[in-house]
Amino acid sequence: MDNMFDLKGKVAVVTGGGGVLCSEMSIALAERGVKVAVLDRNEAAARAVVADITRRKGTAIAVPVDVLDKKSLENARDEVLKAFGTVDILINGAGGNKPEATASDTMSFFDIPAEAIQWVFNLNIIGTILPTQVFGKIMADRGEGVVINLSSMAAFKPLTRTVAYSAAKAGVSNFTQWMAVHFAQNYSPNIRVNALAPGFFLTTQNEYLLIDKNTGERTARGQQILDHTPVGRYGVPADLIGTLIWLVSDAAKFVTGIVVPVDGAFSAYAGV
Ligand SMILES: NC(=O)c1ccc[n+]([C@@H]2O[C@H](COP(=O)([O-])OP(=O)(O)OC[C@H]3O[C@@H](n4cnc5c(N)ncnc54)[C@H](O)[C@@H]3O)[C@@H](O)[C@H]2O)c1
Repeated sequence: MDNMFDLKGKVAVVTGGGGVLCSEMSIALAERGVKVAVLDRNEAAARAVVADITRRKGTAIAVPVDVLDKKSLENARDEVLKAFGTVDILINGAGGNKPEATASDTMSFFDIPAEAIQWVFNLNIIGTILPTQVFGKIMADRGEGVVINLSSMAAFKPLTRTVAYSAAKAGVSNFTQWMAVHFAQNYSPNIRVNALAPGFFLTTQNEYLLIDKNTGERTARGQQILDHTPVGRYGVPADLIGTLIWLVSDAAKFVTGIVVPVDGAFSAYAGV
């Protein structure tokens, strides 16, 4: 039974691996015997995660990358292949939102700058598609592999204010389905693509919406989120690990093209 979750000796590439959620994923994979390439634009953050993994006797390398630049991704791929020989798992974790692309009392939808909308679209959609081209090609050539994308609650039903992020993450969910079908039909049934849709995790990316920076108190939006999360708390990064391990392991051999909410029932709750 336990063997179906065995990941020992696999190689994982984690983009955004220096970030809050994906550093936890990188460490969790390394603890299970996976060799992890921590890819991030923020090299210092990636190095800190690698140092943590090494301290725990795991195997990892830090590789600087810009997920929006194909050449940079190809350089990263070459480094990963040199160090570990192959790629079994790709986690497309680099993503996010920013205040400039968010409607508010001081920024009406009509005034949101095109560059801000583009920034969010590029990071979440292009930043998922390009790494899947570069690392997915290795999987296509081998006929084997697993891709995990990071979607969001905003993809199921758009969240107020985060207009670009909601649309972009809906794109990530759509791409997850598209890619799953494409790999299975054209390359191998043993290449699977799924997405995690985390509920609300308090991180640097959304802190400005959930905590009032002047008082340190929960914002009205933060309270609304908790009121709509039946388990009554924000997620913590460790909450994602069980679902991640299931999806990247043989236990999910027939699971491809799905988006799994890990959300304390946020998406299940109608509000009454
Ligand atoms: N935090 C949440 O509540 C939440 C909820 C749903 C989905 N998500 C998604 O989960 C993923 C991880 O979120 P997080 O909260 O850990 O974010 P985070 O900001 O802590 O981590 C994102 C990482 O991506 C890196 N990055 C940004 N742009 C990059 C680029 N162009 N190239 C390479 N690396 C780049 C950053 O340096 C950072 O280390 C994101 O896709 C996010 O949208 C987060």
